[in-house]
Amino acid sequence: MEEQIFQDFYHNQVRFSTQDHPYSSEPKHVWVICRYEDKWLLTKHPSRGIEFPGGKVEEGETAEEAAIREVAEETGGVVRVITYIGQYHVSGKSETVIKNVYFAEIDRLEKKDSYHETKGPKLLKSLPDSLRFDGKFSFMMKDEVLPLSMEIIKGKRN
Ligand code: GTP
Repeated sequence: MEEQIFQDFYHNQVRFSTQDHPYSSEPKHVWVICRYEDKWLLTKHPSRGIEFPGGKVEEGETAEEAAIREVAEETGGVVRVITYIGQYHVSGKSETVIKNVYFAEIDRLEKKDSYHETKGPKLLKSLPDSLRFDGKFSFMMKDEVLPLSMEIIKGKRN
């Protein structure tokens, strides 16, 4: 896929590519599209709303390790297989964010006492097209990164 350039929910410019780490070999952020049985596994962020799990890469950790850890912390999901999908670059007002997108197949859900600053797992049979206009969903779900990533994932799952 060629690089795609678009604006996000906040009108920041986003560049998305499925090349191998086009914007940074050491991205500081990860986002993980999770599939558990026949559902999508997301998390409920207390202020942003429903979104796929993700977060920051910690010191001494690879981006993939961070992805696996964030899924566990925010949903209790234990990753069986994880695949790199692409990377995106957000040019914010002051900061730049570079994030790897992964697809993870979840083996099982472990129940936890707390889900690391989120309200825990949220399973959805399907992701409605109307989520872009739905306040229950996080802004991270509302730009082209999600549909473009889903297109790649669909190709892999078939
Ligand atoms: P903390 O340092 O943990 O407080 O995070 P932060 O609120 O400063 O946010 P972060 O550094 O994660 O991101 C900075 C800005 O980049 C956010 O306010 C968003 O505008 C943007 N951003 C972060 N992640 C995404 C994303 O997945 N998609 C889009 N479109 N923008 C994002």
